Amino acid sequence: MKFTLIALIAFVCLIACSSAVDPCVTDPTVATCKNYTYDATADITTLCTNNNGSAVMCSIVNTCLAAKLSTGVCAPFSVLADGCTGDFKSADACTNYNSLCGANSVVDQCKTQAAIPSLPSTDTVNKEIVSICTEMPKMKDCVTCPYNTSVSGTPMDCDAFKAYSALCIDMPMMSQCSSFSNYCKEGQPIPASSIATTYCPAAAGTTTTAGTTTTAGTTTDTTGTTTTGSASSLTASFALFLLSGLVLIMQ
Ligand SMILES: *[C@@H]1O[C@H](CO)[C@@H](O)[C@H](O)[C@H]1NC(C)=O
Ligand SMILES: *[C@@H]1O[C@H](CO)[C@@H](O)[C@H](O)[C@H]1NC(C)=O
Ligand SMILES: *[C@@H]1O[C@H](CO)[C@@H](O)[C@H](O)[C@H]1NC(C)=O
Repeated sequence: MKFTLIALIAFVCLIACSSAVDPCVTDPTVATCKNYTYDATADITTLCTNNNGSAVMCSIVNTCLAAKLSTGVCAPFSVLADGCTGDFKSADACTNYNSLCGANSVVDQCKTQAAIPSLPSTDTVNKEIVSICTEMPKMKDCVTCPYNTSVSGTPMDCDAFKAYSALCIDMPMMSQCSSFSNYCKEGQPIPASSIATTYCPAAAGTTTTAGTTTTAGTTTDTTGTTTTGSASSLTASFALFLLSGLVLIMQ
């Protein structure tokens, strides 16, 4: 009886689990996948639950949520790209992204909602905060992050990307602010976006001439046309959950 059920579960999984992922995720080189769009929200939730904005990508998520923005650098797929080409490269929640935007992918979304190219890693941001605040502990944003009690290598329990940006907005010439100078450079996605003032000097966003640059940050949001990949994977998970319960009852 037990074996019959296990076989049944394996069979259901064979159907449900394989149909959970869209064929374009599995093989993004097929020409018809050009217009496929992936719903990144579930993966973002997985990556950012429990870190309370301490990772660079999750800082952006929180800033975009607070500003109620979901286009440009705030488009969910672009935010997922930030994490999956950076800090979270090898996380399970990046498996679909890595496959979808892998070598020879024809999926437009990988280019039109690409990662912010100049984004620093969470590790870099943390190290620079420790360095700046050890040197100048009186700077006002040094109270934001527990820089003097953090164990080196562990993410600090604070919105470090925001804190680092605030420190560098105050003292842009500090040597620790070279990453800041990169991502706030004119023509980069962040200064051209609606969340510019959280991470870059106020003037940076207003000095760009409209229409002269085409960056990932200026592309339109297409999440409205997203297919139901994550919904069907939820259905599959739920079916498996029900079957597991059945096995327990029948034992
Ligand atoms: C993708 O969408 C564009 C514009 O909607 C359309 O012209 C094109 O035929 C589509 N391509 C594929 C491969 O579906
Ligand atoms: C860390 O810095 C804060 C604020 O500057 C200070 O009050 C605290 O005593 C420091 N803690 C340690 C362990 O140095
Ligand atoms: C999340 O961060 C905020 C400030 O950045 C802090 O006030 C709050 O306690 C944190 N929440 C958790 C669950 O750590």
